[in-house]
Amino acid sequence: MKFDTILVAKNNALAQITINRPKKLNALNSAIIHELSEAFKVLEEDKNIKVIILTGAGDKAFVAGADISEFAHFSVDEGGSLARKGQEILFNLIENLSKPVIAAINGFALGGGLELAMACHFRIASDNAKMGLPEVSLGVIPGYGGTQRLPQLVGKGKAMELIMTASMIPADDAKNCGLVNHVTTLEELLPLAEKLASKIMRNSSVAITGAIKAINANFKDGVNGFDTEIEEFGTCFGTQDFKEGTTAFLEKRKANFPGN
Ligand code: COA
Repeated sequence: MKFDTILVAKNNALAQITINRPKKLNALNSAIIHELSEAFKVLEEDKNIKVIILTGAGDKAFVAGADISEFAHFSVDEGGSLARKGQEILFNLIENLSKPVIAAINGFALGGGLELAMACHFRIASDNAKMGLPEVSLGVIPGYGGTQRLPQLVGKGKAMELIMTASMIPADDAKNCGLVNHVTTLEELLPLAEKLASKIMRNSSVAITGAIKAINANFKDGVNGFDTEIEEFGTCFGTQDFKEGTTAFLEKRKANFPGN
C-alpha cells in the first residue's frame, strides 16, 4: 500500500496507520480522508490483519481537526456535503469495521481529530494529549459525528458542556469521563496499544466481529440491539472458532483459533 498522507505498517497480524502531516498537526484534509478510507478498506480485506492501531505522526498531535483552510469558504451545500461524505466514507466505515480499531491519541485530538478517535472502537491517550470539540468557536458545529458519539461516551450533560464551551481537556480528565480508557506516557503509548492488541488477538476474531456488531447495534436508530446480539450469538455456534474455543476449554488447553 502506497499513500502520500498516511503511513501503513504491518507487523504480523497488527496494522498501524499513522496520519503523516505533522507540520500541520495532522489536520484532516480531503486527501487524508480518502487515503484513510482506502487503507481501512484494504486492511479489512487483508486476512492476515486482526487489529488496527490509528495514531498521528510526531509528538504533538493525533489530529488537530479538519483542515480549516479547506472549508473556510464553503457554501451551505458544500458544508453539508463535506460532513455527509466524510461520515460515510470514513467515520462510519471505521465504527462498523469488522476488525478492532484502537485510537492511540498522541497529542491534540481536536474537532475532526477527536471525532476520528471517537469513531474508533476504543481510545488510549498519552499524558500530553488534549481533547475537545472546539467547532462552535469557529461558528460551526461538529460534523463528523461528534454531537452523536461524544454523548454516547461521556453522557449528554458533559457533552453539552464540552461542545458549548469549546474546551480542551487534558488526558486525565478525558479518562475520568470515559472518553479514553487508559493514559500513559508518550513513549509507552504505542507499546500499550500493541499490548492491548495482542491481548485481543488471542481471542476469536469472528466472535469479536460479532461483538462489535452487537455493541454498535445499541446505538443505531431502528435496530434492536438485543435482537442483533441474539443473532450474532447464534451465528457463533456455526463457527470453527466456537468449536475450538469450547473444545480447548474442556481439554484444559489454550485455544488456537482458526479465525473462521
Ligand atoms: N486546520 C488547518 N491547519 C491547522 C489546523 C487545522 N485544524 N490545526 C493546526 N493547523 C496548522 C496551523 O495553521 C499551523 O500551520 P502554519 O505553521 O503553516 O501556520 C500548524 O498547523 C501548527 O499549528 P500552530 O497553531 O502553529 O500550533 P500551536 O501549538 O500554536 O497550536 C493548536 C496548536 C492545536 C491549539 C492550534 O493549532 C489550533 O487551535 N488548531 C485548530 C484547532 C481546531 O479548531 N480544530 C477544529 C477544526 S474543525
